[in-house]
Amino acid sequence: MSASGGTRGRLILVDDEPAVLMTLEAIFAGEPWEVVACASGEAAVEAMGRGVDVLLTDKNLGDINGLELIRRARVIQPDVMPLILTGYASLDTALEAMHLEVFDYLLKPPRDIFDVQRKVRQAFERQAMQRENAALLVRLTEQNRQLERAIQEQRALQAELIQSEKLAGIGTLAAGIAHEVSSPLFGVMGLAEAILDEDDQALVRGYAREIVDYSRSIKEIVQELTRYSRSRGSDGMELVDLARVVEDGVRLVGLATKVPTGAITVEAQGPLPTRGHPNELQQVVVNLVKNAVEAAGDGLSPAPAVQVRAWADASWVWFAVRDNGEGIPEANLDQLFDPFFTTKAPGRGTGLGLNIVYRILTKHQGSVTVHSRLGEGTLFEVRLPREAAAP
Ligand SMILES: Nc1ncnc2c1ncn2[C@@H]1O[C@H](COP(=O)(O)OP(=O)(O)OP(=O)(O)O)[C@@H](O)[C@H]1O
Ligand SMILES: [Mg+2]
Repeated sequence: MSASGGTRGRLILVDDEPAVLMTLEAIFAGEPWEVVACASGEAAVEAMGRGVDVLLTDKNLGDINGLELIRRARVIQPDVMPLILTGYASLDTALEAMHLEVFDYLLKPPRDIFDVQRKVRQAFERQAMQRENAALLVRLTEQNRQLERAIQEQRALQAELIQSEKLAGIGTLAAGIAHEVSSPLFGVMGLAEAILDEDDQALVRGYAREIVDYSRSIKEIVQELTRYSRSRGSDGMELVDLARVVEDGVRLVGLATKVPTGAITVEAQGPLPTRGHPNELQQVVVNLVKNAVEAAGDGLSPAPAVQVRAWADASWVWFAVRDNGEGIPEANLDQLFDPFFTTKAPGRGTGLGLNIVYRILTKHQGSVTVHSRLGEGTLFEVRLPREAAAP
């Protein structure tokens, strides 16, 4: 790139002695640049108006001083490379030339004419390098700006992600708490409804006592929420009979869902000792049995049937729920335990039941497996570490 607009570069030679000017022109005849020879300062000013890259000028011209010419060249082309030729070197000229950042200072007549040629070539080379550097700098600055923009976008995105993850966390927590509260509440409502139809004072009293128990567990869950920041460990676990937990859980579901009598069968030979939170283990039972009842009672199976069984082997206590519902499509099996996975109509399921089951069992060092085929019903199997002593 040059001031003259081409890629060749434009050299302006200025000297008012025709012999010198001719010699200079002759030296640069073979060069790739556009060479313009000017016999006066005025002519040079006019030529420079059409562009100048390197200016080689005599210092003492008849009309305009060589140093003044350099000043004007700078206005036209800030990165012009000026060289000055002078017959008598004075310190003043040298200083002034330096001040003007003249590329080089040549004595006239030159001792070696090729020295002039070399210096002009160097001037063009230096200029090309400077221009390349400047272009590089522009590109670098632009890239830097782009990088900075990208970093900023990344940061904003990250902040947004953190925020939405926090929100999602809070949402999951809130929905989880709601779900946990809803199962004892479920019990309270079922028992309260049973009381409405019950005349037997002893039974009513028994139901009321259970309502008190369920209300207490709601209180515990709410209290747990306030302690949520602490990680929930294995503290507070007690010896539990899984058979009792299963029986209680099934009864709860029976009361609340009003399944036809005989639709749920329970086979649980206690004691089945394990260590855990009775409340939480009951939630496991309730969620699995409730799902089974919902699947079996979907109207697709002729006679809804849910079988619940609990037993023990040497190292584990087990509990299984089988239903004759529609079964689970294979594609859904991988997602069953994910929070919010549900195939139920909005308002009918939150998709948290199995996630809570999974979380509780993991915390109790237990596990859950599912066996299901479309049209063949579903079997959920749960196991928990067996404790040595009976409760
Ligand atoms: N016994 C079952 N038979 C058929 N499908 C089941 C059974 N148990 C679970 N599922 C499927 O797994 C999904 C997730 O169950 P999960 O208990 O987590 O949520 P939900 O029952 O949909 O809602 P919620 O339990 O919160 O009321 C159900 O929507 C259903 O598609
Ligand atoms: Mg459920």
